[in-house]
Amino acid sequence: MPTFYVMDVWKAAAERARTHGDVLVLAAGQPSTPAPVPVLRATKTALDAELLGYTETFGILPLRQVIAEHHIRTYGYHVHADDVVITTGSSGAFTLIFLAAFDPGDTVVVARPGYPAYRNTLTALGCRVIELDCGPQHRFQPTVAMLDALPEPPAGLIVASPANPTGTMIAPAELAALARWCDEHGTLLISDEIYHGIVYPGIDTESTSSAWQTSREAVVIGSVSKYFSMTGWRLGWMLAPPRLRPALQRLASNMTVCPPAISQYAALHAFGPEARAELDGHVRRYAENRALLLEGLPKLGITDLAPADGAFYAYADIAHLTDDSTRWCADLLAHTGVALAPGVDFDTVNGNHTVRISFAGATADIEEALVRLGRYLEP
Ligand SMILES: Cc1ncc(COP(=O)(O)O)c(C=O)c1O
Repeated sequence: MPTFYVMDVWKAAAERARTHGDVLVLAAGQPSTPAPVPVLRATKTALDAELLGYTETFGILPLRQVIAEHHIRTYGYHVHADDVVITTGSSGAFTLIFLAAFDPGDTVVVARPGYPAYRNTLTALGCRVIELDCGPQHRFQPTVAMLDALPEPPAGLIVASPANPTGTMIAPAELAALARWCDEHGTLLISDEIYHGIVYPGIDTESTSSAWQTSREAVVIGSVSKYFSMTGWRLGWMLAPPRLRPALQRLASNMTVCPPAISQYAALHAFGPEARAELDGHVRRYAENRALLLEGLPKLGITDLAPADGAFYAYADIAHLTDDSTRWCADLLAHTGVALAPGVDFDTVNGNHTVRISFAGATADIEEALVRLGRYLEP
């Protein structure tokens, strides 16, 4: 299993925080806020009121119902509680679905740049990963034309919209076309929708679309980690077609028994209006932070930026500054206390000259990071 490099950056940043106390962590792919208040309240109640033993392998029925209703409300398609499989983070969902759907030697297609754990986990399971070269000219997303150009239809295709590290989204019509292509070619589409809810005003692909709007043969992945500001609660979910559920049930029950019980009872309260009002406030802050970076970075000569339609990352090509992003990030951290994620995690070809800047933190931290970065880049 290859290294997840951003975790090394976190370690170095934690060390610097101990020695200098001045660290601004813009490397983390997580909100800087706790879970919404109704979730925290419900957690305290659950500690007293619930046994918190093992639950059903696919999660407690009330949570599966709440998540089904969330999908009905957001996308207008019908979802039954039985369609929902609760998992230990979306990370748990990925491992389960890879094991349930693919055999060693199967080909699975991902976008490059993309989230490294897809590639790393699939490789560890013996799958053959094909990375599609999704550069800026394709808004960093796969297209039907790229799939048509493959020598043969793959067993699986993973898409993420909004994506990590670029934040770019797949337009609804393109996602529908990808889903139809997968259905026609017997390819399992796995649609990572965990950044849904974090989308910015004025984006031309503004309507967030879900793969189940086109095909119920696809697998849709969700999580409470990002929009819901609950990374450490380790709770995700998938909408899975019936044919895959028996295998998922066997795998999940053997591997983890069930997702964490306390997080399930708490997450029941993440989808209501009070929680959403708080969470939408976070998204407004991300929008402010995003505007600061998209204006501030070009003034520092960092002009080659991905569009950042959604999620909370600015992805920058810094080829004019380095061809070793890992060393550059380490040097930046050592001189300024600003921690960024080197692109090598996300892009095995061009990541040596890209960085990912997370803007999920406090606005004051983004402002200060820009000041320090400006000083660092001064000739
Ligand atoms: C695109 C993407 N998918 C999945 C994950 C895993 O998230 P979790 O396991 O917290 O749900 C992440 C985490 O950063 C991500 O960026």
